[in-house]
Amino acid sequence: MSQIYVLNGPNLNLLGQRQPEIYGHETLADIEALCSEAAGPHEIRFLQTNWEGQLIDWIHEARLQAAAIVINPAALTHTSVAVLDALNAFDGPVIEVHISQVHKREAFRHHSYVSHRADAVIAGMGVHGYGAGVAHAVRLIG
Ligand code: DQA
Repeated sequence: MSQIYVLNGPNLNLLGQRQPEIYGHETLADIEALCSEAAGPHEIRFLQTNWEGQLIDWIHEARLQAAAIVINPAALTHTSVAVLDALNAFDGPVIEVHISQVHKREAFRHHSYVSHRADAVIAGMGVHGYGAGVAHAVRLIG
């Protein structure tokens, strides 16, 4: 069970088009390629949804399929106790990634429910945060 789940929350399907001054010009497909490279021999399952329940279902699936989760919950970071509860039911390492430096932004982005569970938090490295997150997950699962 050496799969790494890379999960993406709402609006991240619009990467490259959405507020490029904040999120850059790379697309989700570019990020997937970056994650595959960082995963080395490990298989990744790279997913995005705009629906909170879908994200939770994938976290439940990861309980049986994944050794680690790298997650950018996007806006659900700041609102979802349900995503936190799902992650609390996952036994392996959880890495939280944000493209932007959320602590330099609006106050409502400074609190993360997911950080109560995350083993590492990356913010402000742009899309390279995903590569760093997957590389860290690989180190943790060995
Ligand atoms: C984000 C930051 C969140 O505050 C925001 O809602 C997002 C993306 C990031 O990757 O910087 O959608 O998670």
